[in-house]
Amino acid sequence: MSDKSGNFQSDIHDSNYETVFLAKKLDHTGLVNADGRTQESLNGQWNFGVDWYDTCRRAKWFTETTHDAAGRPLPLDWDWEAWERMTVPACWNLEREDLHYFEGSGVYTRKFRYVPEIEGERAFLRFEGAAYRATVFLNGQLLGTHDGASTPFCAEITGIVKADNRIIVAVEAKRRADRVPMDNTDWFNYGGLYRDVILFRTPPVYIRDWFVRLVPDGTFSNIAVDVTLAGVSGVAVSGEVRFRIPGLGVDAAVPVVNGKGTTVIRAKPELWSPAAPRLYDMELSAPFCSDTVTDRIGFREISVKGTDILLNGKPVFLKGICVHEDHFEKGKTTDEKIIRSTIAHLKELHGNYLRLAHYPHDARFAKIADEEGVMLWAEVPVYWAIAFENPATYADAENQLSELVLRDRNRASVIIWSVGNENADTDARLSFMSRLAERARALDGTRPVSAACLINHEKLAIEDRLVDSLDIIGVNEYYGWYDPDFGKLPRILENSNPAKPVVLCEFGGGARIGQRGSTDELFTEDMQRRIYEKQVAVIGACRYIKGTTPWILYDFRCPRRLNRFQEHFNRKGLLDADRVTKKLAFKVMADFYEGIGD
Ligand code: GCU
Repeated sequence: MSDKSGNFQSDIHDSNYETVFLAKKLDHTGLVNADGRTQESLNGQWNFGVDWYDTCRRAKWFTETTHDAAGRPLPLDWDWEAWERMTVPACWNLEREDLHYFEGSGVYTRKFRYVPEIEGERAFLRFEGAAYRATVFLNGQLLGTHDGASTPFCAEITGIVKADNRIIVAVEAKRRADRVPMDNTDWFNYGGLYRDVILFRTPPVYIRDWFVRLVPDGTFSNIAVDVTLAGVSGVAVSGEVRFRIPGLGVDAAVPVVNGKGTTVIRAKPELWSPAAPRLYDMELSAPFCSDTVTDRIGFREISVKGTDILLNGKPVFLKGICVHEDHFEKGKTTDEKIIRSTIAHLKELHGNYLRLAHYPHDARFAKIADEEGVMLWAEVPVYWAIAFENPATYADAENQLSELVLRDRNRASVIIWSVGNENADTDARLSFMSRLAERARALDGTRPVSAACLINHEKLAIEDRLVDSLDIIGVNEYYGWYDPDFGKLPRILENSNPAKPVVLCEFGGGARIGQRGSTDELFTEDMQRRIYEKQVAVIGACRYIKGTTPWILYDFRCPRRLNRFQEHFNRKGLLDADRVTKKLAFKVMADFYEGIGD
């Protein structure tokens, strides 16, 4: 029906109602680094409505129109203050029994006060994670829409924010074939505003982002710093930024022209490594616009040479395990305590590395890993059968990758960017993921790029065309489990002759905690242990495998696992989902890593 017909009503007739919301994107181009800035939390109890039919956006509730043109009251279908309360950050699935499998739209709203602190200051909202599509409104105005369940986004609210404000966020968590990830995954689809929401302020001209790292030239004595400043649109920002690292006696000028500044300075930092996770306080200050930001940076070089992975020029074996952002009580919402307990279990395994599967985890993980000396594999959820032919899907994937890299590229702990997991080797996939690999290198030329590739089961060899676009070859294999013929694995490793390092980024088998039996009885701890014993024996003998992350540290929620042992959990953890009880295989992996040494 055309909206020209006399009886057209947009709130019920406009099937393209979403277009106007999608036209205003909140993406990586609007991301502002808020580290080292005063952050005002908007977390807490918000009013929440389960909006099954997405009516808030269809019927434009966000305009809060309560009377007609003549001032007569209108019947409203929304009623913010009468709605129930919902915790932010939290996954709505674990906040209300009946929302456990909810994948629709939820509307969050709250009021907040704002008092300017300095003349001409600018104000921003930053969301650390909203699953999946979030449309944000402030005081009736559309700020924009963000896609992607695991990366941060910002919205500038200068000129919109007032003394008393109403923020409304419509979050929709549908699984869709054209999204990243698509509609079929092996993990639980949590929804909602499940990470922090903050407000921060800047001067009119401000330091928008920075990238500080060791120049990967093998000298370990050149520190590069890029700064980006933003000002009033249309006005070029030029001036001098001071770059200080008191711990190194560094105090250098970075000339900024048109908002961009870069410099390389000579310095001999103590290098960051798992054994010595040295971090340096850093400050960037722009006196000409009275702005200062701070950060804590570790300096290390990660590189690849032949089939070796080099950390600070020395070969390193990545002793790791995979983890999901999944907690039996909090789902995808995490906190410092949970992150530190995960790292404590890794250290009990004598590990030095984690694969953060299959999507960007909370930003605090890399910051804590910086302190704890844990190396990280960070990944975007280009998982299984993504719509590789769809340009909108590519744009979504590239944006999520850009947000991840911009968020975490100052973190020494992050050593590998992964552009995906277990995708069939098609032409469309090859072009899609090769472009992503190039995008990662364009944003950060200091880290190797990888992906979890599949073995060519016909040729029984590690063979994937994507390997040419990667620096490190990730391989997933489940011999002894999905393919019970374990004998194939040693043959595959013999048949393969990779010219790059290989990281076995998944292997293992399922076991229900406490389930005992013979070593060939499925879902027993005995069989899982046997699989691990066989895996580490073969892995340990292979010259080009330079890292391992078995699947997985903890059992985790998964709606596609329905047998009597699984009960909606993937049971391949080395610990039960209670994050306390270890399975027999845990010791096998710990002994293997202890044997490798540092
Ligand atoms: C796959 C996949 C994981 C999944 C695992 C499993 O390899 O990458 O996401 O959970 O196998 O089957 O348990």
